[in-house]
Amino acid sequence: MDSKIKTLQDKIAEAHLGGGIKRIEKQHEKKKLTARERVLYLLDEGSFEEMGILVTHRTKDFGMDKELYYGDGVVTGYGTINGRLVYVYAQDFTVFGGALSETHAEKICKVMDLAMKVGAPVIGLNDSGGARIQEGVRSLGGYADIFYRNVQASGVIPQISAIMGPCAGGAVYSPAMTDFIIMVEETSYMFVTGPNVVKTVTNEEVTSEELGGASTHAVKSGVAHKTSANDAACLDDIKKLLDYLPQNNTQLPELKPYVLGDEIREELCGIVPDNPNKPYDMHEVIKGIIDSDTFYEIHKDYAENIITGFARLGGRSVGIIANQPMFLAGVLGVKSSRKAARFTRFCDAFNIPLLVLVDVPGFLPGTDQEWNGIIMHGAKLLYALSEATVPRVTVITRKAYGGAYDVMNSKHIGADFNFAWPSAEIAVMGAKGASEIIFRREIAEADDPVAKLKEKETEYAEKFANPYRAARRGFIDEVILPQDTRRKLLKAFAMLEKKHVEPPKRKHGNIPL
Ligand code: COA
Repeated sequence: MDSKIKTLQDKIAEAHLGGGIKRIEKQHEKKKLTARERVLYLLDEGSFEEMGILVTHRTKDFGMDKELYYGDGVVTGYGTINGRLVYVYAQDFTVFGGALSETHAEKICKVMDLAMKVGAPVIGLNDSGGARIQEGVRSLGGYADIFYRNVQASGVIPQISAIMGPCAGGAVYSPAMTDFIIMVEETSYMFVTGPNVVKTVTNEEVTSEELGGASTHAVKSGVAHKTSANDAACLDDIKKLLDYLPQNNTQLPELKPYVLGDEIREELCGIVPDNPNKPYDMHEVIKGIIDSDTFYEIHKDYAENIITGFARLGGRSVGIIANQPMFLAGVLGVKSSRKAARFTRFCDAFNIPLLVLVDVPGFLPGTDQEWNGIIMHGAKLLYALSEATVPRVTVITRKAYGGAYDVMNSKHIGADFNFAWPSAEIAVMGAKGASEIIFRREIAEADDPVAKLKEKETEYAEKFANPYRAARRGFIDEVILPQDTRRKLLKAFAMLEKKHVEPPKRKHGNIPL
């Protein structure tokens, strides 16, 4: 028996070494943790249970039958994060560069299948040279098996991807179909075709970092929802994110303990400037409303004219969408509409109530926007919010102009409670633009057209640059004092807790893509 036990112990020890000491050292030299180190850091101490540690690949071509590594380049299993069950897989770059073989894919599929049966999040730690070149189509089949499961799991269990090294070619499409992508700065990159192919096809000279590094995807493409300074920070960010999410689509996110006593927030009074053309930072409004230090921003550096993120309000997890007057005056554009639409759909799928803060002067004009399909992309946000059945509350802090008023969680598209501050201006457009159009003749014929325009502007502003016309129609449920916003929202979300809406029976809607 002793020798049999020793055999097992030796195999496990060998498996723990992955591709060997030298390759582990190389991984550390690149400031990267190994797959197993990452899993152990991510999960609660002692909670990790590994599955398939003794799996090896089945390839015989190119002398591969002599190169066998236990685990076949991916560490898979389950454990807990802050006591909550999660499934995890981590690609091991020390074994064939983490390249995906048929068996490697089977291991990932196995944890995904279990996660679906049990109803718990899946976290994928990606660090891979892509398809295992020696295996050809079997490896590609393995990818597709994972893609298929990503789609089946979408909207059922949260799926989080960390990119902690290379992620190229077909490999990108699994993370792309998960809910969140977090990339490690400087050591990770994602692209469909790498710099060499780009050079051959388009003659562009570009580095991996420029083409698909963390900051490229966080700022330019929006593929990354967040970036982290290093491996440990990335794993910490996953843990924090998970805190706002439920285990699956049949559950609510955990309610954290909340102490009463800070409902009135005087600081909210001084944020919106008297001059409607002056910007202010909507983050200050968010800070003034939520439980302190609970904002977790998503897509922080992408389409900054809209803010998206999770926070806690009275211990309850909420998704926040807010126009940001500091960037492009908070207009809706192609990118910001897509960003907010995707966030809305995530929250709706996972029972996270939505708070929408509005200060929007309209849609961004220009050929760039029109030719890039602002009609379709703006429609995504309109569609996503109209479709959302989670509790939805709006606060208009200042401008709510034109079609953007409708889109930003107006009463008409199903919002449950719509508040406005006294500084709200709910109108078809700003007073100047409106006066130039409707009083054009009067202004042109006036002795002093400039003074006439000013007079008409004031007249229009007095009539429409306020929340009271909308309140009279019931489009606004209540005009509230800024300092009372937190208290009102706490009550509104508590009141909406048991909201239940049955969507119409259909296979699925046809969101403008
Ligand atoms: N299939 C099989 N083995 C692979 C592999 C793949 N797709 N990608 C990398 N490897 C192996 C390498 O042969 C090397 O093996 P070794 O340790 O026995 O020498 C090991 O993984 C590490 O790769 P290396 O190239 O030394 O690492 P690097 O950090 O310098 O570069 C990559 C990493 C990913 C940029 C580079 O390996 C690469 O370009 N891989 C191919 C990517 C690709 O075209 N994939 C297929 C399309 S999806």
